[in-house]
Amino acid sequence: MYHIPVLLSASVEGLNIRQDGTYVDVTLGGGGHSRCILQGLGPEGRLFSFDQDADAIARCASLRDELGKGEQWTLIRSNFRYLKNWMRYYGIDGIDGVMADLGVSSHHFDDGSRGFSFRSDAPLDMRMNQKGGDTAATVLKNYSSEQLTNVFRLYGELKQARRLADLIVNTRQLHPISTTGQLAELFRPILGREHEKKDLARAFQALRIEVNHEMDALRDMLQAATELLRPGGRLVVISYHSLEDRIVKNVMKAGSIDGTAKTDAVYGRALSPFRAISKAITPTAEELEANPRSRSAKLRIAERTDI
Ligand SMILES: C[S@@+](CC[C@H](N)C(=O)[O-])C[C@H]1O[C@@H](n2cnc3c(N)ncnc32)[C@H](O)[C@@H]1O
Repeated sequence: MYHIPVLLSASVEGLNIRQDGTYVDVTLGGGGHSRCILQGLGPEGRLFSFDQDADAIARCASLRDELGKGEQWTLIRSNFRYLKNWMRYYGIDGIDGVMADLGVSSHHFDDGSRGFSFRSDAPLDMRMNQKGGDTAATVLKNYSSEQLTNVFRLYGELKQARRLADLIVNTRQLHPISTTGQLAELFRPILGREHEKKDLARAFQALRIEVNHEMDALRDMLQAATELLRPGGRLVVISYHSLEDRIVKNVMKAGSIDGTAKTDAVYGRALSPFRAISKAITPTAEELEANPRSRSAKLRIAERTDI
């Protein structure tokens, strides 16, 4: 199984699909959400699906051929931060819905060779797009102690962030830290027995977020989605980290990353490009049992206003 889709029906229902609409799934993965969106489209509808990972695109290209949806379903191997450029390239000036299921897929953890998981020993890569950018090993080699502390504190929410960063800086003077196994062994004594697995997962998550510049990409994509969505169009986002969720919530509430809304000059009323459709939705007990990886998922849905 490449990836079990999370909050599938709630998120696709949230898109409120029009049969002849134009939709973008910015996080294709195993194609779970894209496939469900396609089922809601009529012959006039179109779907564009992004993934920066070649494995996801290759897998879904076969799925698209099997389904005979070549005309209707366009796959784009790119970072979703370039959403606007790609829509311009395809001559699309307005869209009816954007689906984003952030982060990595199960495939990234299950394929031990990609370096995302401490369950297998492999080179510390962690890039979703293997064609460019720094690997996790390069980040560990080049970042200052302050930069590393920020990564572990902000993206891993680890109270031992400073100690982990100092340990990396001291160790790399003796030898390079180049495998997942080495990093896990290095961190274990600092993390303490009680929450060792959870904290190790957080440390790895923090590095992954940094390696893939996930927060910057999210900001750019949300800005592009705000500009491209037609009034009545839906923005549907599943996030897995409190920082991601805060950004999504702010954009859906106020139309800006920091949550400050523009106000109208006459009455001083807040002007937001979005109207929230529901409060944050989390997986049901059954979903959690069937798919424990969904435990930190939070779904938010908003509708584009005409502002
Ligand atoms: C959680 S998975 C999506 C799973 C998908 N919804 C499904 O049901 O199969 C996230 C996917 O988005 C991709 N991804 C994450 N950030 C991206 C970005 N900035 N640009 C393009 N793809 C990205 C990852 O490579 C991964 O395949």
